[in-house]
This record gives sequence, structure tokens and C-alpha cells, in this order.
Amino acid sequence: MVRYGLTAHYAQSIGPVDQARRHTRRVSAHPVLASVVERLVAAGCVAASEEAAELVAAAPDEPTLGEWIRRRERGEPLAWITATMVFCGRPLHLAPGVYVPRTQSEELARRAAALLPDRGRAVDLCTGAGAVAAHLMAQIPTAAVVGVDIDVRAAACARRNRVPTAVADLAEPLRARGGIDVVTAVPPYVPTGELRLLPADVRRYEPRLALDGGGDGLDLVRRVIEAAALLLRPGGWLLMEIGGDQDRAVTPALAASRFDLVTPWRDDDGDLRGIASRATGSRA
Ligand SMILES: C[S@@+](CC[C@H](N)C(=O)[O-])C[C@H]1O[C@@H](n2cnc3c(N)ncnc32)[C@H](O)[C@@H]1O
Repeated sequence: MVRYGLTAHYAQSIGPVDQARRHTRRVSAHPVLASVVERLVAAGCVAASEEAAELVAAAPDEPTLGEWIRRRERGEPLAWITATMVFCGRPLHLAPGVYVPRTQSEELARRAAALLPDRGRAVDLCTGAGAVAAHLMAQIPTAAVVGVDIDVRAAACARRNRVPTAVADLAEPLRARGGIDVVTAVPPYVPTGELRLLPADVRRYEPRLALDGGGDGLDLVRRVIEAAALLLRPGGWLLMEIGGDQDRAVTPALAASRFDLVTPWRDDDGDLRGIASRATGSRA
């Protein structure tokens, strides 16, 4: 089976529970914690202990904790329930209805930060909650970073994470043609026919707009490449998350839009996680 990063279980997106442990414990932890773990195990959570610790630590009172456990048992993403998660070591606000950033996207964010110069300019297309953009802003505070998302809820969430964000179809509203140093995108890239292979909770809760990449999964990816070719200065970088064997189709599309130094990267299991390429600006 082809593996797409977006299929990763929520547990991968939670991040270290140290964050939760830093919260003041408002609920008496020990007797409660064991029973919460038990309930989450019974509900099929693969990271029941960590999730239970996070719920117990973040709940303001017992009735809220009870309601949160019921929501999690029904499969709602933990980050929607606690309204927070950790991305690249920093807390990020999350709102119900907004795609939950995945741990595997942290590598893209780190690579992009390494390519963004001081006082540089970056655009995060399909920004969602603004996770990648927020990391760029934190790492290069002198840079100007903007996010774009077509979903009003996602854009509001990104703004709450201090990412200046436009609600738009990709780069439509941006006038900075040819002046951008780095474009990032975690677009929807799951082929429509493979959506049924996603975990049931992902299909039930997360927005299809964030997942469905069309027939071969690359409808948005191709449009991101075209948009980035217009936005980037010669020598600027495009970094996109893709999966499966999509690098085979994306590499020629990048060449056709005059990108070079095409570099896919993989995770420790050998699964494709993203692709970076440099804009040449050549008109040839
Ligand atoms: C897979 S999510 C990634 C979100 C975020 N970058 C992250 O890593 O958490 C894809 C996002 O693309 C947005 N999106 C889908 N189609 C879009 C379009 N045509 N223009 C802008 N954003 C779009 C969705 O609303 C969703 O927030």
C-alpha cells in the first residue's frame, strides 16, 4: 500500500507530553489518570498514556475532563479538544475543524527555516493553523512571513498563532511577484481514491479540503508549483510535502516550471516526506 504522510495516526501529531506536564495540574492526577488511560486504551488510542496525561493536565475541572474524554473516545483529534499542540517544540493554537499539523511536517519547516535569509520573505501556501509559518517566524524573526489558506477557520487559527494570513485560493492575492525567498506548502495530496485508506477518525473529523488532492493527489501540488514559480526570486526555494511515489510525477512538473536542484527527502522508514527545489527564474 502506498503510504501518505497524511495517513499518520493522530498520536504522531501530539508531540512530546512535556508540554502538558508544564501545565498546572488542576485535576487530581493519580487516581484519575489511571482510569483515563484505561478508557482511552479501550477506545483504541495508540498513545493512551500520553494522551491521558495531556487531557488530565489541561482540563480546568472534572466535568470538563469528563466531556473531553468522551470527545476523544469518539475519535475527535486531541488537539481540537485541548485547543493546543506542540509543533517544532513550540505550542500552537488549534481550533476544531482545522487540519492538525503532523509531526512529519516539522522536517519541512526546519529545512525551510535553514533556507530563509535574515530579513527574507516567505509565503506559506495552504498554511492551515500556520504551523510551518510560525516556525519560520520564530527562527528568523527579521523575516516577513505570510500564510494563505482558502478556509476561513484555518486562516483565523493561523492569525491566532500570529501568522499574518490571507483567505485565498493559493497565491491569488499576493503581489510580491518574483520577490520571495522561500515558498512552503503542505497541500492536500492524498489521491481521492486513497482517502478511504485514511484512519476512520481522520475521515470523520478532518476537513476533506485539507486532504483530497484529486485523482493522482497532485491537483493542488501542480498549482502550488505554478504559483511558486511566479512568486520566487531566482535562487529562491520551494518546499512541498508530498508522499507515496509522487516525486516521480512532481520532478518533471518542477523542471517544466524552471526549478532545478530538485531534492526529495525521506523519513527514517524510507517514506517520501517532501521535495525541495530552487527557482532558476530562467525564461529559456
Ligand atoms: C494538509 S493541510 C496543511 C495545513 C498546514 N500547512 C499544516 O501543515 O498543518 C492543507 C491546507 O490547505 C488548505 N487548502 C486547500 N485548498 C486550498 C487552496 N486552493 N488555496 C489555499 N489553501 C488551500 C486547506 O484548507 C488546509 O488548511
